[in-house]
Amino acid sequence: MANTILVGAQWGDEGKGKIIDFLTEQAEIVVRTQGGNNAGHTVYVAGHKYVLHLIPSGILRSGKTCVIGNGVVLDPIGLVAEIDGLLKLGIPVTSGPQGNLRISDTAHVVFPWHRVLDGQREIRKGTNKIGTTKRGIGPTYGDKAARVGLRVVDLIHPRRFPERLRERLDENNEVLRALGAETLDYETLLRDYTAAADRLRPFVTNTVVYLHEATRRTANILFEGAQGTFLDIDHGTYPYVTSSNTTSGGACTGSGVPPNRMDRVVGVMKAYTTRVGEGPLPTENAFISDLLHGMGREFGATTGRARRCGWFDAVATRHAAMVNGIDELAVTNVDGLDSLESIRVCVAYEVDGQRLNHIPSDCELLAKCQPVYQDFPGWNTPTDKITSWDGLPVNCRHYLLTLAQLTGARLTVVSVGPGREQTMLL
Ligand code: GDP
Ligand code: IMO
Ligand code: MG
Repeated sequence: MANTILVGAQWGDEGKGKIIDFLTEQAEIVVRTQGGNNAGHTVYVAGHKYVLHLIPSGILRSGKTCVIGNGVVLDPIGLVAEIDGLLKLGIPVTSGPQGNLRISDTAHVVFPWHRVLDGQREIRKGTNKIGTTKRGIGPTYGDKAARVGLRVVDLIHPRRFPERLRERLDENNEVLRALGAETLDYETLLRDYTAAADRLRPFVTNTVVYLHEATRRTANILFEGAQGTFLDIDHGTYPYVTSSNTTSGGACTGSGVPPNRMDRVVGVMKAYTTRVGEGPLPTENAFISDLLHGMGREFGATTGRARRCGWFDAVATRHAAMVNGIDELAVTNVDGLDSLESIRVCVAYEVDGQRLNHIPSDCELLAKCQPVYQDFPGWNTPTDKITSWDGLPVNCRHYLLTLAQLTGARLTVVSVGPGREQTMLL
């Protein structure tokens, strides 16, 4: 298959989980390299819906190894609940040399004070809030960068953990007190985190060494991106972003697999645009929002919030192709546009009388950008049962090839429904 980095080319929720599940068939190992349980990756297998938050979507196929890499921020209580949820559904999650899940010993640990701080900062920002998932992601990455975070290796260390927890809690309780928030109880935290550590310990290993050895014997590793390009801490619509590098470089730093071991980058994008949370979205449009929400679609997999919707933004996806080095494109949710007579695509922006062909770095300027649209005839036919490229309506094929051409990458996967079988390879 080639070592493949899969990234979201828009604002997250592009259908990465579904495409990962599809591509996992040819992979040996699937790795999450950044983000935490802010992610919600939906996969349908034989009519059953699974939503993965921290565990790679590859877990749903047997015989594959899944890795939670060093770049992830890991909520141990959330992860144990996710493992138990999968076990209850009959999906094995096993540890040890033959097991199907490995957890990096250097991933950073999310604590309840991170979640409280996440919420408190949002309250303080008022109307400028980011609209985070409140999973404590920003404060956990903040501690990592400030070099005060606790890692999995600390969590599972029976002597060190109680000491480090005390230290960190004392400092954070002072902060919580200053913010007028409730403080947290040491004994409760120690009990809950020790119980989670005991469950997770058998899964923990040096995943950098494991992946390095794996690259020597196989070139079938799939790196599962979380969030999307415009939520990247460096390349996104800062400050309305998440706190990790969601672009392809994050797959290297978040796994320890160097760039020269990577073979290709696949970008996943919807046939239209969505965003959950605050921040600019130039093509946001009430008509398409109402249409998709009316179909019961576009509600967040993690928080249940209604996603904001808009027309396809080729200025954005062209930028995504550039910063990720996207070679191939997977376009999902094509069936969402089935009922339209005419479909708009944003090909440039206009701001202060000037035409822009790229995303401006200044988020305030982006918020002022007006899309320049090109209209395409719709196909007005259901596509969800179509199983081959040639079977798609000619207007649909034309639309998809245009998206690929405007983005600047090769179209290789088309998805016309949430199921595994509703996927075609070009
Ligand atoms: P992710 O975070 O990128 O994995 O995406 P999410 O799972 O959060 O959101 C994508 C949504 O679109 C999920 O509900 C998927 O089941 C659904 N989905 C993915 N591809 C298709 C498709 O081609 N058609 C339809 N109807 N739904 C799709
Ligand atoms: P997947 O992997 C869509 C958004 C939040 C918010 C911003 C910051 O399912 O595509 P955070 O909690 O990370 O500090 O929130 O990022 N966000 C996502 N939006 N899909 C996601 O993940 C997201 N993860 C975070 O809504 O705007
Ligand atoms: Mg999602």
